[in-house]
Amino acid sequence: MFLQDETQKALLEQEAHRLYGLLGSVSRTCEEKWTLEDCQKAASYTLRINQLKKEKNAVILAHSYTVPELVYGVADFSGDSYALSRKAAQSKADIIVFAGVWFMAETAKILNPSKKVIIPAGPAGCTLADAITEEEVRALKAAHPGLPVLCYVNSTAGVKAQSDICVTSGNVFDIAAKLPQQEFIFVPDVLMARNLEIELQKRGTPKKVISAGGSCCVHDKYTPDDIAALRCQYPGIKVLVHPECRPEVCAAADYVGSTQGMTDYVARSTEKLFGILTEQGLINRLEAEYKDKTFIGTFGICSYMKQNTLSNTMQALLNPRPEQVVELAPDVIARARQSLENMFEMSR
Ligand code: 13P
Ligand code: SF4
Repeated sequence: MFLQDETQKALLEQEAHRLYGLLGSVSRTCEEKWTLEDCQKAASYTLRINQLKKEKNAVILAHSYTVPELVYGVADFSGDSYALSRKAAQSKADIIVFAGVWFMAETAKILNPSKKVIIPAGPAGCTLADAITEEEVRALKAAHPGLPVLCYVNSTAGVKAQSDICVTSGNVFDIAAKLPQQEFIFVPDVLMARNLEIELQKRGTPKKVISAGGSCCVHDKYTPDDIAALRCQYPGIKVLVHPECRPEVCAAADYVGSTQGMTDYVARSTEKLFGILTEQGLINRLEAEYKDKTFIGTFGICSYMKQNTLSNTMQALLNPRPEQVVELAPDVIARARQSLENMFEMSR
């Protein structure tokens, strides 16, 4: 599409084969895997985007839930929210392109206020981040004076600015256990708050968790029946779930953890068959990286994450629209940054 002469055609073919080597084992739909033809279509974009990255000294960070052609075609790094926030904090690039949802791009901006942070999906939301406002957190604090406030990273910059410590699905249990207080406020994931109370009880450090907010539209849908059906159809299957799932789903699983935690579980396991109750993008990553293992999911899709495409990534690198560029007030950045730094400190 963008390349014409013979050398360019050869480059395009080489790129298509590189992508096919990575994506050939990945499900594109319930029934189909990626084909060489799919990779040929993606290749004209990935070649151009990778060239633009160099010209503009840009880095692309992609959450594992984004489409595989972004994760394997153009991302310099992909991972879970915690790893992405670490990468954003360390970045030397002039431009950070964050393929994810708005709160993730905001987190990158909070950690790099002087850099241009772009999100191809524009103001793509998240049912958790949209579940509570800064004012509601202020009201909760007023109702429970003196209690520390933990906020899940899936929250707006304003909510982070009202919180003492930010947490991610990868460190929430450890940080909550380390808190000296026996009671704390946790926003905005009410299901994770219940999972947190149960886990703290199990660890012998019971604490009262006061929560408010909502739930993730993808993870809230899973039920213990989904796990029972997997175990019935695939005897011996190991079932891995995200802590945004309901407590009864977590109780029925073999492992509960962040997207990176699930990947690490698969990497160290000698088992070959896994049921994965999280967004399809992670299943696609596992299919690409553990070709000798089989992953069964339910095609749970986060429509917000999937708004990042090769096409809008290229457009955003060339000429970002205002709604694709993250801007935050300096005082919000300063206060929200403290909650993230407290997380990094407590994760050591
Ligand atoms: P992770 O931090 O586990 O990648 O989760 C992010 C998320 O949005 C899960 O829905
Ligand atoms: Fe938000 Fe759920 Fe999408 Fe994660 S999967 S970004 S929590 S809506």
